[in-house]
Amino acid sequence: MIPEKIKKDTPMSKTHFKFMVKHFRQRDKKYPPLYKIEKTKIKEGQIVLDYGCGPGSYSIAAAEVVGNSGKVYAADIHPLAIEEVEKRASERDLKNIETILTDCDTKLEDKTIDVVLLLDIYHDLSDPESILKELHRILKKNGWLSVDDHHFKDDEIIGKIINIGLFKFIERKDEVFNFTKV
Ligand SMILES: C[S@@+](CC[C@H](N)C(=O)[O-])C[C@H]1O[C@@H](n2cnc3c(N)ncnc32)[C@H](O)[C@@H]1O
Repeated sequence: MIPEKIKKDTPMSKTHFKFMVKHFRQRDKKYPPLYKIEKTKIKEGQIVLDYGCGPGSYSIAAAEVVGNSGKVYAADIHPLAIEEVEKRASERDLKNIETILTDCDTKLEDKTIDVVLLLDIYHDLSDPESILKELHRILKKNGWLSVDDHHFKDDEIIGKIINIGLFKFIERKDEVFNFTKV
C-alpha cells in the first residue's frame, strides 16, 4: 500500500494540455463560462480562488464579475496553465488576476478567500483530502466552495466533499454544487 505522503499529482503532458485547451475553446463557445460563474456565489468586490484553473476560462469570467475592487487567484499544477491565464488576462487588460503554480499549497493567508472554485478537477486529484483541507484553511468563515465534476453522479460528488467533515452542502444550481465551511 502507498503511504499517504507519496500520493502526488503530476502535470499532464504538454500535448495533452494543448489538446485540452482546444477542447475547452469549443466547450466555452457552447457553454459560456459566465453562465457557470452565475451559478456560484461570486459577487463584485470579492476575492476568489479558481483551483485547477486550466487555461483560465472561469478565472477570466470570475475576474470580470469581481471587477477592479476584487481579485481572482488562478492556481494550477501546470506551467502552461499559468502561461495561458496570464496571456488571456493581459489580452483583456485584466489587472485583478494573480496566478499560483502549485499542486496543493496555495501560500495564501488563512481565511482570506470569499469563494473557491473547484471545477472539473476533483476526479484528477490523487489526494483530494489534502486539497480540501487547504481550501478550507484559506476560505473565510462564511466563504463558499463551488464544485462541478461531471465525472461523478450528483450524490457521489456531494458525499466526497462532505465526508471529511470540513464542508456542508447548501444548494445545487444545475451542475454546480455550493458548499460552506462547517
Ligand atoms: C480538466 S482541467 C479543468 C480546468 C478548469 N477548471 C476548467 O474547468 O476549465 C483540470 C486542471 O486541474 C489541474 N490540476 C490537476 N491536479 C492538480 C493539483 N493537484 N493542483 C492544481 N491543479 C491541478 C490540471 O493541470 C488541469 O489544468
